[in-house]
Amino acid sequence: MSEAKNRIIVALDVPTADEALRHIDELRNEVGAFKIGLQLITAAGTPFIREVVEDGVKLFLDTKFHDIPTTVAKASMEVARLGVWMFNIHASGGFEMMAQTVDAVRKVCSRDNLTKPKIIGVTVLTSSDQETLRQIGIVREVKDQVRNLALLSEKAGLDGVVASPQEVSLIRESISNPEFMVVTPGIRPSFAAADDQKRTMSPKEATQNGANLIVIGRPILQADSPIEAVRAILSEMDK
Ligand code: C5P
Repeated sequence: MSEAKNRIIVALDVPTADEALRHIDELRNEVGAFKIGLQLITAAGTPFIREVVEDGVKLFLDTKFHDIPTTVAKASMEVARLGVWMFNIHASGGFEMMAQTVDAVRKVCSRDNLTKPKIIGVTVLTSSDQETLRQIGIVREVKDQVRNLALLSEKAGLDGVVASPQEVSLIRESISNPEFMVVTPGIRPSFAAADDQKRTMSPKEATQNGANLIVIGRPILQADSPIEAVRAILSEMDK
């Protein structure tokens, strides 16, 4: 698998397991991994997740946990037992929540001989802007809040963060560890519509700015031929 392929995570934002499985079958040799979010987790549940993982598919479970530290830590142990490659928690849940989660996941993985999933912190959702932050009492600029949460995630031992492509450079400038992963949604190849994404970047720009992994949904799943869409994205990235 080429370097560019490994960077692509397809967002399976579909309502049923059948639909998701069709996309996985078509694209599994073309991309690095698949993301399952709250809709499909809720609709299809853990039996579906287990089935996909047991079939050898790399899965990013977009759990976005945010609760008291012990609850998130325990839920995360169960996620680790599912055998997924990566999952995420909200960095705004705080240092203690993140650190306890890392500790609990490390312990369960070493005890049960499991591969530790990557744990990624959600910084500021791409749907949030200055006004959204102000409403919940955060007066910092979005970028400063992203930097703050990325630094806190690293301090708590997380493997990386999710952030908008606009914020990748500032995260790379603030965090010297080159292993720290930055995962970005809000990616639009040249041929795709922006949909509801406001601050987009092309796959090539995002990776040049330092994103390790790019999450792409509608430009692939809603294309007439998803496989051709992936190939067009890869050729844009290789240019
Ligand atoms: O927009 P696209 O279909 O490529 O979305 C892929 C992923 O990006 C979604 O699963 C969602 O997690 C995230 N997203 C986002 N901001 C939006 C819309 C989607 O971060 N406004």
